[in-house]
Amino acid sequence: MVDLSVDLGKLRLSNPVLLASGTVGFGREYGRCYDLSRVGALVTKAVTVRPRPGNPPPRVYETPAGMLNAIGLENPGLEAFLRDELPFLRELGCPVVVNIAGQDEDEYATLARHLDRAAGVAALEVNISCPNVKQGGLAFGVDAASASRVTAAARAQTGLPVMVKLSPNVTDIRAIARAVEQAGADAISLINTLLGMAIDVHRRRPVLGNLTGGLSGPAIRPVGVRMVWEVAASVGVPVIGMGGILEATHALEYLMAGASAIMVGTGNFVDPTAPLAIIEGIRQYLEEHRLSGVKAVVGCARPGTGERR
Ligand SMILES: Cc1cc2nc3c(=O)[nH]c(=O)nc-3n(C[C@H](O)[C@H](O)[C@H](O)COP(=O)(O)O)c2cc1C
Repeated sequence: MVDLSVDLGKLRLSNPVLLASGTVGFGREYGRCYDLSRVGALVTKAVTVRPRPGNPPPRVYETPAGMLNAIGLENPGLEAFLRDELPFLRELGCPVVVNIAGQDEDEYATLARHLDRAAGVAALEVNISCPNVKQGGLAFGVDAASASRVTAAARAQTGLPVMVKLSPNVTDIRAIARAVEQAGADAISLINTLLGMAIDVHRRRPVLGNLTGGLSGPAIRPVGVRMVWEVAASVGVPVIGMGGILEATHALEYLMAGASAIMVGTGNFVDPTAPLAIIEGIRQYLEEHRLSGVKAVVGCARPGTGERR
């Protein structure tokens, strides 16, 4: 029997496959497809202090080996989340990680404080890809100082494990990773979507109602793997990798680059049960190669580590 469990700081998961934020909502629809207690954890759609209607349609568009989305953080807001969604989520049987998004540091602090008191929240994932209203709309995640301030604001309000989710739309991801680690992040997840755009040549207009959107899916996997490789070498906290994972070999790529766990996002749209096949595929790989567990492959592709073949 191989050991699929992973430790992300204080957070222990039964296996390394998490469901990425925004791709399974609050679990209601995917909970009808399979038993969600089988995944390592579910990360919720971003929760904001106030309800958000999201962006005007069209909001999604399929691209070669990927998709663009500009949902605009549509969610019912903190109060309705705690009242209507969390009671359902805590019955699912898997750890629930709540993704939080704010327009300034105070909003991150407010979200962390309220979620800290709520039963059934295993950890917080701080989404720093959203526009910073006070600094003129630039995302917190593209600047080490503001990424650090947001992390510290959430950290100060909760004893829950805090993971910070990095944006790939930066020049040096390592500097941002080090900044959030120093500000108290227990783990770092990456990557969020890459900023992209598509034009409808018949209408002669941008396809998305929001004009630009986030690119996800297999097209971005090499970027994600490269960034996980860089960040894992730069910080001491666990790294959770994502971007374009559709099957077990893709997950293993991330683990071997240095991720302690992975998330499946767009893959859920291709096949809702993909996470289960990925868990099983990782198990088979470990068994075939007579490895004791997931930890034996984490970072094994790095020079000077692991068993090379
Ligand atoms: C439709 C959609 C909605 C998303 N919503 C969120 C969100 O609310 N918060 C967040 O941190 N990431 C969000 N993401 C980003 C994903 O969690 C993930 O980081 C990204 O899609 C890359 O992984 P993938 O290629 O496996 O999809 C969203 C992605 C998609 C496709």
